[in-house]
Amino acid sequence: MSADYQAVQWNKLKKVYDLFIIIGLIVYLGIFVSISLLNYDQPQAISPVIILIRALGSCAFLMLHIILIIGPLARLSSIFKPLLYNRRHFGVSMCIVATAHIGLVLIWYYGYGVISPLYALFISNPNYESFARFPFELYGAAAYLIILLMALTSHDFWLKLFSAPVWKILHMLVYLAYGLLVIHVLTGFIQTEGSLSNLYLLATAVIIVVSLHLTSAFREWQRDKRNTDDGEWVKLCPARSITNEHGKGFTLKNGDKIAVFRYDNNKIVAVANACAHQNGPLCEGRVVNGNIVCPWHGYEYIPTTGRSPSPFTEKLATYKVRIKNRTIQVNQKPNPPGTPTKAAIIR
Ligand code: HEM
Repeated sequence: MSADYQAVQWNKLKKVYDLFIIIGLIVYLGIFVSISLLNYDQPQAISPVIILIRALGSCAFLMLHIILIIGPLARLSSIFKPLLYNRRHFGVSMCIVATAHIGLVLIWYYGYGVISPLYALFISNPNYESFARFPFELYGAAAYLIILLMALTSHDFWLKLFSAPVWKILHMLVYLAYGLLVIHVLTGFIQTEGSLSNLYLLATAVIIVVSLHLTSAFREWQRDKRNTDDGEWVKLCPARSITNEHGKGFTLKNGDKIAVFRYDNNKIVAVANACAHQNGPLCEGRVVNGNIVCPWHGYEYIPTTGRSPSPFTEKLATYKVRIKNRTIQVNQKPNPPGTPTKAAIIR
């Protein structure tokens, strides 16, 4: 890791990032509420509080879509890699917006009776046996519990406590939350007789999320399948297909996941893909000032040794690389972590 790296920091870039999120939220809510209020004098007009409930719910849902598509987009094209930065702040902001949506729902729909709003949420619609008439709010509540758990455990403290693999599994629950929210919104539309255009919008959003995930998984699978064995050496990709100072991830036939980087314009190296700090995906990082930088916490590695620059001691396994017919080949046998190796030169 870099000598100036601090585990938890609120740097200027993060403040600017958060400012953009706040401005984005204000703009979205402002536009949603203003357009909805245009119909306010119509007979079928809904109350401004319900408009705000919908604005907050749809805003949180949109933010979740952005969070979900950043990963596959970054795997499909390195142009999107900067979006990986600070994704956690975006996730926590989404949770805050969802909390505001739920708070208003509890006050507006369940807050005026004699029983507690939370209890009322569970008993006011007893149609538990029907899918279409099932209390759709409960799908939202189940999704919210997952989102809240993820937001509360997003800090590095929990990542360290749980260990990276457990933390990663926990955060994969976001896909379950997404499924529950799609059902929440769908059954909500059915029960509140929402407009057909909203239904089309929902279908389009789901198709975008699913197809981006499938496309990126298919591309990776195809790329790994193309790698033909030559004894211990495996063909990867044309050397020039990796942008200078960027990386690409590969899964070798023996199951090892590696990150291949191009730097100094014509040098190619390969190291283990999992950062020695908390298993961050190095292939999504970049080469900055001559070192590979992990996208998660900025840990740095010297490309040809896989070692963090002194005084740090983290080490990665390195792999022998060569270029034949302009194609990168890697030797599947990993060198012990921190073993110096030569960069292959693109001629
Ligand atoms: C305890 C949890 C939740 C409850 C009780 C709840 C309740 C509701 C209610 C009552 C509506 C219908 C509002 C109306 O049209 O009158 C609604 C709609 C909606 N909710 Fe939730 N919700 C919850 C969680 C969430 C979460 C976590 C999200 C997103 C991250 C979300 C996103 C939405 C969306 C997108 C709509 C449709 C908005 C529209 O019609 O434009 N909800 N929710």
